[in-house]
Amino acid sequence: MFMLDVSEYGSGQSESMLAQELVLKQRTEILHALCSSGSAEHLERVLDILLAQGELLWEDYQNIHVPGRPLYTNARQLLNLVYAKGVDTCELFLTALKQVLPEVQGAGLAFSGCCLNLEKKEEFQYTSTQTLLANRPSLVSKLQGCIDSALETLVVSGHFTSGDCDEVRLPIHTPSQQARCLLDHVNSKGESAAKVVLHYIQQKQESGSQLNQEKLNSPKEFLKYQKKLSSSVSAQCCFLSTYGGTNHMSLDDIYTEGQLELADESADLHGPLGLEDIVGTAGTVNEEADTVLVSGEAGSGKSTLLQRLHLLWARGAALQGFLFLFPFSCRRLNSEHKELSVQELLFQHCCWPDRDQEEIFQFILDHPHLTLFTFDGLDELKQSFSDEHRLCCPTQRAPVPILMFNLIQGSLMKGVWKVVTSRPEAVGPLLRKHLRKEVLLKGFSPSGIDCFVRKHHSDPIVAAKVLESLQTNTALHGLCHSPVLCWIVSQCHKELLGCGEGSLRTITDVYVMILQHFLQHQSPLRSTMGLGWLQKHLQTVLRLGQLAFEGIGTTCYIFSFTDLESRGITEKDICMGFLIRSNDMSSTQSKHYEFLHVTMQCFFAALYIVMSSNTDRSTILKLFEAQDTRETGLRSKCFRACLPSIDKQDQILGGETTAAETPNLQITATFVSGLLSQRHRNMWLHCCPSAMMEKKVKQVSRCLSKGMQKHFKSIPQPVAGEKKSMHAMPGFVWLIKCIYEMQESRIAKDAIGKLEVDHLKLTYCNIGPVECTALAYVLQHLRNPVGLQLDNNSVGDVGVEQLLPCMPICNSLYLRNNNITDEGIRKLIAKGIQCDNFRKIALFNNKLTDACTQHFSNLLKTKQDFLSLRLGNNNITAEGAKQLAEGLKFNHSLQFLGLWGNKIGDAGAEALASALENSKSLLWLSLVGNGVGSAGACALAKMIENSKSLEELWLTDNCITRTGVECLIRAVERNTHVKSIWLRNNELSLEEVEEMTQRESRLIF
Ligand SMILES: Nc1ncnc2c1ncn2[C@@H]1O[C@H](COP(=O)(O)OP(=O)(O)O)[C@@H](O)[C@H]1O
Ligand SMILES: [Mg+2]
Repeated sequence: MFMLDVSEYGSGQSESMLAQELVLKQRTEILHALCSSGSAEHLERVLDILLAQGELLWEDYQNIHVPGRPLYTNARQLLNLVYAKGVDTCELFLTALKQVLPEVQGAGLAFSGCCLNLEKKEEFQYTSTQTLLANRPSLVSKLQGCIDSALETLVVSGHFTSGDCDEVRLPIHTPSQQARCLLDHVNSKGESAAKVVLHYIQQKQESGSQLNQEKLNSPKEFLKYQKKLSSSVSAQCCFLSTYGGTNHMSLDDIYTEGQLELADESADLHGPLGLEDIVGTAGTVNEEADTVLVSGEAGSGKSTLLQRLHLLWARGAALQGFLFLFPFSCRRLNSEHKELSVQELLFQHCCWPDRDQEEIFQFILDHPHLTLFTFDGLDELKQSFSDEHRLCCPTQRAPVPILMFNLIQGSLMKGVWKVVTSRPEAVGPLLRKHLRKEVLLKGFSPSGIDCFVRKHHSDPIVAAKVLESLQTNTALHGLCHSPVLCWIVSQCHKELLGCGEGSLRTITDVYVMILQHFLQHQSPLRSTMGLGWLQKHLQTVLRLGQLAFEGIGTTCYIFSFTDLESRGITEKDICMGFLIRSNDMSSTQSKHYEFLHVTMQCFFAALYIVMSSNTDRSTILKLFEAQDTRETGLRSKCFRACLPSIDKQDQILGGETTAAETPNLQITATFVSGLLSQRHRNMWLHCCPSAMMEKKVKQVSRCLSKGMQKHFKSIPQPVAGEKKSMHAMPGFVWLIKCIYEMQESRIAKDAIGKLEVDHLKLTYCNIGPVECTALAYVLQHLRNPVGLQLDNNSVGDVGVEQLLPCMPICNSLYLRNNNITDEGIRKLIAKGIQCDNFRKIALFNNKLTDACTQHFSNLLKTKQDFLSLRLGNNNITAEGAKQLAEGLKFNHSLQFLGLWGNKIGDAGAEALASALENSKSLLWLSLVGNGVGSAGACALAKMIENSKSLEELWLTDNCITRTGVECLIRAVERNTHVKSIWLRNNELSLEEVEEMTQRESRLIF
């Protein structure tokens, strides 16, 4: 055995012999050097080198590198093998060890003359796989920084599945282990995967060296400027402003990933998007354009996301392809009334170069791709985007919005990358034309909420309590998907835990809670049900309310100290925490203020509308009616006209309307509805005359009811024989949300009870969990069952849960493309089984796997009137199909079964065919694109032979050969009901297709 061999080597052998002996004699020391740190890194690096040198075969490597086995065992295995392989290997091993652990030389390990050249062995590299192996050590280090994009490349090229990616990204892996794991996977996938990786690295290097070259060439002054810029960017964004006055919270401590999606669905195949992907290639729709749009609702985290990007860039942790990053806030640019050139815009608003201004600007002009501009909150700009005034000279002065629009279009400084954030309402077709791509920010996922709350509270017990209370209140949990609401809920944890379970349901509830939180924070009152607190601070609320209200009407979000003074706002009012200092990159000395968040400004505007006796009687009317007016110009003029006082300057500047007004007025109206709800009326008891409040309540309910009527009237009469269908017009979801805020079934019934449609279509309406809660609340008051079509929204599992209350009134539910997983289905079906009307469901393109099929199976067994089940484009395999088959065996009603784009294969097809053999109801079956071969086809043929009902069978895009088709032909010959069997794109030659079409015209190739 191995240990006995020792004696054969005496001292004084030849030098190479010595290497083998050294390995043996120093075994303990080597083991210690490799393993004592507890990290596998040293061992793995030695393995990399030995693999690259061809000293270890792949099998050897797999025998040594056994995941999960103790590190020492792996290292011993290596030593045994190296020794057994002989002197050359030992020599190389020691050389590798010396390279990996230069410090151990001093620790008494002897290497003798082991200093072989570890150059790459070019002569062995015939294939890409061999090249990968030979370059392993350097590839591991190159891949570490770009694992995600390398994985993306492999997924796009079809070599990696999301399962492979998950294995590589395992959280226990260090970055270098991720790189090795990636390489190991590639190795197992073969030549073409290896080629893809090599190509990827090569491209990466080319673009990197270009950048380095340019960085190298940039003289000291540019680098100095870059340093100054990045340190001022970093200083601007290391704290989150919402925590402003009260407590500081660093972005690092609280930042939680939001859900990012590509707007272009066809590209949405790469798994979760990361921050860097915003400027990556995924989802590009227009190669010519350089502007990326990040869109999301108010409070979805757009500004915070940019802040995070800025911070990471400034620290050198992301976006390192850019030498300069210039951040702009549109709300701040509103107050720049001078005409500026681009140079002035950059230097005055972001960072002033101490020297060589001209040269630095010229450098930026000459290297546009090294610069990134970000424009936060395009929706908050006073002017709407327009491309009327073209500018192309960077030294020409122009009004700031015009500069911005020209930058966005690329007519100025083409090639500079721009990231723009906006609410979706403010993005019109004019702007869309100039977008490279659009990324949607969808707020927190359920695990994001969890993570945020834990980060927010250093005391884990408090965090756990907050999360527990969210678990028991699903409506509130739904609201927390919006980061701004999640922040408030978490911030007000004392109030949250102190109030009765489930009493917080609406957005208004949450904002009333923070109102109380801030007001009582200043002077803690022991009044629990809060009668006194508002009265005590009534004047503060009214003053801030007036400021907010007037600001909303004039697109003004930043207020000077004089603005505050003129409304009588005192230092004490400011200290309450609703207003924060607005910090500007340009160093103006005067103090400016803004509301914590635009939604907070809307809330205060609503408080003012509700409480003030100054607001014109027509204010509420105009606020609600404004939403229905198509003409934006008309609308905002209406609303402005009802403002008590308008700042002269704003009147001049605000001549044009802005797209931001609609969403802000909508949010304000939603709060007005909520504040006037029965449940908040106690709050007003001692503050406002009750007759006035009654009047306002009546006015709002009338507005809501009238608004709904308008929608209903727009429904066209159905064509004879077709169902009466209504597509939601803009504003419909908003009206529903207002009704929800009121929390009075009488109003809901009154508003929706008269709706008579068979089918309610709400596709592409930006419906998330929050909207689902409101929809379900209102729709449950419908008089007759409807088909509810919610395709292409972001309902998700939490949204599904919110929809449950309206399940009894749904006869069909369409939830295509909504990010729903098996967990959502479990809840949905558990409820659906109990609902008599529920007959059809469509779930195309969600995240379903075999785990959901048992629920459908159960549904099919239980509901003998269920008609249609469509599960296309999910992740269902043969196992899932077998589960479904179990249910189908006992079902006598199903007419449509769609499984397009799953992976059920022959085994799945066989199971379904056998379950459906005696079906008297099934009319239509689709197994398109499921990897079904001839065995599956023959099983289906048998089903056809017996079927009395089947009319259409879809088998396009499978791998059925002649044998399978022969079976199908024979079956169809004995069945006269079948109308068509679609077989396009299977494994048949042109001649076969021709011949078989002749034989049976019902087969369609
Ligand atoms: N990714 C995030 N991590 C932690 N908190 C966030 C995040 N996104 C938003 N928030 C919280 O929500 C608030 C509102 O977010 P913000 O970025 O201003 O939204 P938007 O710009 O879309 O209106 C922030 O002030 C912060 O408190
Ligand atoms: Mg913002």
